[in-house]
Amino acid sequence: MLSFHNANASIGNIPILRGLDFTVPASGTVALIGRNGAGKTTLLRSVMGFTNVTGEIRFDGQDITDMTPAKRPALGIGYAPEDRRLFSAFTVEENILLPAQVAKLDAKTTQTRLERVHHILPELKEMADRPAGNVSGGQGKMVALGRALMLGAKLIMLDEPFQGLAPALAKRYADALRDLRDTDANVTLIITESNPSLLRGFASLTFVIERGAVAEGSLDDKKETA
Ligand SMILES: Nc1ncnc2c1ncn2[C@@H]1O[C@H](COP(=O)(O)OP(=O)(O)OP(=O)(O)O)[C@@H](O)[C@H]1O
Ligand SMILES: [Mg+2]
Repeated sequence: MLSFHNANASIGNIPILRGLDFTVPASGTVALIGRNGAGKTTLLRSVMGFTNVTGEIRFDGQDITDMTPAKRPALGIGYAPEDRRLFSAFTVEENILLPAQVAKLDAKTTQTRLERVHHILPELKEMADRPAGNVSGGQGKMVALGRALMLGAKLIMLDEPFQGLAPALAKRYADALRDLRDTDANVTLIITESNPSLLRGFASLTFVIERGAVAEGSLDDKKETA
């Protein structure tokens, strides 16, 4: 459903990712494991169109290599960056709804998606009216997940979602992802991590990224890399 064909990505003129040739199958949960600086964030940002890519990236049967970034979320791609990027002056719910407005989802679809978010993350309904600037770092991660769920009808990419979460919240977050899997078996999830043990028992397929190159791997290949 998402595939890279001899793809290279650079930021400005600096080459970061090289020779990417792999496919993320539909409906799977894929772990992308790599040390700090390996290129995880750059890979997700490349799918969103924020880097210079040569070669080809295909999504859902379509060549998206040269598609403008603004058009990509509407393809059904939700993205939670590693820094949460919430708008602190807006409420939690406004932050969740924002991408739907930007992608011009109609009112009915927006409502259905919001209900899906509240079903998987009921705590976001309780926090709906709080200014996003007043939630804790961990709660902010939940809000960022909710926001990614709004547009992620087909693909959801989470960049190191467990990083910095206290154990109880990490468990809650993992449970929410399992609920998502159970509610919506068609959605594809890509989760990056530097610590593979966090995703054990979770991912159906693992890719390891090292110095900008990606190879298929296993969660047992490496011990802690962080
Ligand atoms: N804006 C930038 N300009 C130049 N080089 C960059 C830029 N952003 C990232 N890089 C370089 O690209 C490489 C990959 O960085 P990236 O942020 O994708 O790694 P990462 O795997 O997400 O790391 P982390 O685990 O620390 O988040 C690193 O060598 C980094 O220094
Ligand atoms: Mg990163």
